[in-house]
Amino acid sequence: DWSAARFVDEAVAAVQARVGTSGTVICALSGGVDSSVAALLVERAIGERLHCIFVDNGVLRKNEREEVERMFAGRLHNKLIVADARERFFAALQGVTDPELKRKRIGATFIEVFEEEAKKLGGADYLVQGTLYPDVIESVNLRGASVTIKTHHNVGGLPERMRMGVVEPLRELFKDEVRRLGLLVGLPEDMVWRHPFPGPGLAVRVLGEVTPARCDLLREADAIIIEEVRKAGLYRQLWQVFGVLLPVQSVGVMGDGRTYESALAIRAVTSTDAMTADWARLPYELLATMSARIINEVRGINRVCYDISSKPPATIEWE
Ligand code: XMP
Repeated sequence: DWSAARFVDEAVAAVQARVGTSGTVICALSGGVDSSVAALLVERAIGERLHCIFVDNGVLRKNEREEVERMFAGRLHNKLIVADARERFFAALQGVTDPELKRKRIGATFIEVFEEEAKKLGGADYLVQGTLYPDVIESVNLRGASVTIKTHHNVGGLPERMRMGVVEPLRELFKDEVRRLGLLVGLPEDMVWRHPFPGPGLAVRVLGEVTPARCDLLREADAIIIEEVRKAGLYRQLWQVFGVLLPVQSVGVMGDGRTYESALAIRAVTSTDAMTADWARLPYELLATMSARIINEVRGINRVCYDISSKPPATIEWE
């Protein structure tokens, strides 16, 4: 049986062997379980020679930046750098509606910001990546067949001038193994069980143009969805649950007035590896509560739909 404790020891030794006694390492910390576990493992191996950079790209979930700051307060040798680049990302996304172009713009902006922050640190010899085994497989399959469904992962995405060695301590692991490791290296329970969140964040869940106002709308609705799913005790049974802001307005009635506002889709899926997924049979009562709260509490959304598509042929995200 796979032993998490033994893996930690082996991973720490492997990082030490790769980085050596004087090498420096930087990590793009997203706050997700993968990059967090990868960072903590590397920190165990090389201590303060690791620098972590968290980029606020403006398309994060509600309170996400604050939660990451809180989670790592007093850890990582207090070396977490938080770069507020929200305006730059929104500028890069202005007028963009195509999903792949959104990913490209976000990827390019991320690299710019990350590179600037790395430069301020005087550069580094290695870069930590929280790549998992399924990421490796999916990249090979999709790219190998020259069919890119979505350019999910920034594997090899750094420009030539930033070439660094890569440290990928989770490359042979599946998600459930990473979660067990997370608990072992001291991540809070809630964090370890957090659902995956795509790199391009809310930008691929705000269909159509990504503006700060539309992101705010989605963020509020999404927070209600997650809160209610947690309250119902169903969060851990789901692979992901989130809101998608549709580029559609529909007519509604509120009080004596007519409304003409956005529609939102709730997406909830079960899966073990994201390669295939089934839509979750959420209880009607839960759907009713989420819908009522969103429409009552989020000004600007007057209709809520439930996505009942499985992957394949649909994908988990809408973009
Ligand atoms: P799809 O939508 O392809 O998603 O069924 C499969 C899993 O990948 C996540 N996803 C992404 N992750 N960058 C990421 O880091 C991306 O561009 C991206 N697109 C999708 C998605 O949330 C799901 O877990």
